[in-house]
Amino acid sequence: MEIIIKENGEAASEAAARVVARLVREKPNAVLGLATGSTPLVLYRELIRLHKEDGLDFSQVTTFNLDEYAGLEKEHEQSYHSFMWKNLFSQINIHPEKVHIPDGMADDIPLSCATYESTIIANGGIDLQVLGIGSDGHIGFNEPTSSFASRTRIKTLTQQTVTDNARFFDGDENKVPHHCITMGIGTIMDARMNLMLAFGEGKAEAVAAMVEGPVSAIMPASILQHHPAAKVFIDEPAASALTLSDYYRWVYDGKPRWQQDA
Ligand code: GLP
Repeated sequence: MEIIIKENGEAASEAAARVVARLVREKPNAVLGLATGSTPLVLYRELIRLHKEDGLDFSQVTTFNLDEYAGLEKEHEQSYHSFMWKNLFSQINIHPEKVHIPDGMADDIPLSCATYESTIIANGGIDLQVLGIGSDGHIGFNEPTSSFASRTRIKTLTQQTVTDNARFFDGDENKVPHHCITMGIGTIMDARMNLMLAFGEGKAEAVAAMVEGPVSAIMPASILQHHPAAKVFIDEPAASALTLSDYYRWVYDGKPRWQQDA
């Protein structure tokens, strides 16, 4: 795992955007795995800027989103479908047919999940997966004790995630769906690169457990210790519980720029 600590979320997101942009320039038909939540918003803003000002071309890019609430129509303003079109897709030149987001309203959920998995494979697999982390250590919506071998499936949210996400539903926990469709941890681990973002003191404990704690299903993100190419972009508050933060800074600062963005 490579830990990249920046002074704030803005700088961390810009550094992460350079990695995504470099991939898209080197492989115009790259397959990107994308995340929702408040964390990747600045990353997406930066990708939009690179598209508009530097001509970063998404016309051949394919995307797969991590997750979606079960039972929310695509048109619901808090669906992850709405989130992605509002915060990224409507502002870059991506082809709608190359966008994939789990269907939270599927009649046959197991079939829909299996099709999602086979569509990822048919597109050559995910080159780079963007991840956030839940305060309970979830990635996608893989809550604590999710199997490390899991694939796209329906999951039940923890009470903590319902509470965390109520801020997007007028602060009303009763409005937060309790079920979701999420890529599995096995699906995420198959991505050729994982790029995790985490900002703020509220993520500090989860980040420390993910990076320096034991690999355990109770802390789903800790499986990234086993990933050959996992980059973790964090701000100072999110780094505050790490034991070896000075070492991580020393490693990153010692790299030439081309390697920092690779
Ligand atoms: C949500 C999403 C995750 C996201 C996480 C953190 O529930 N399913 O993909 O990474 O929780 O969200 P935020 O970035 O808003 O803190």
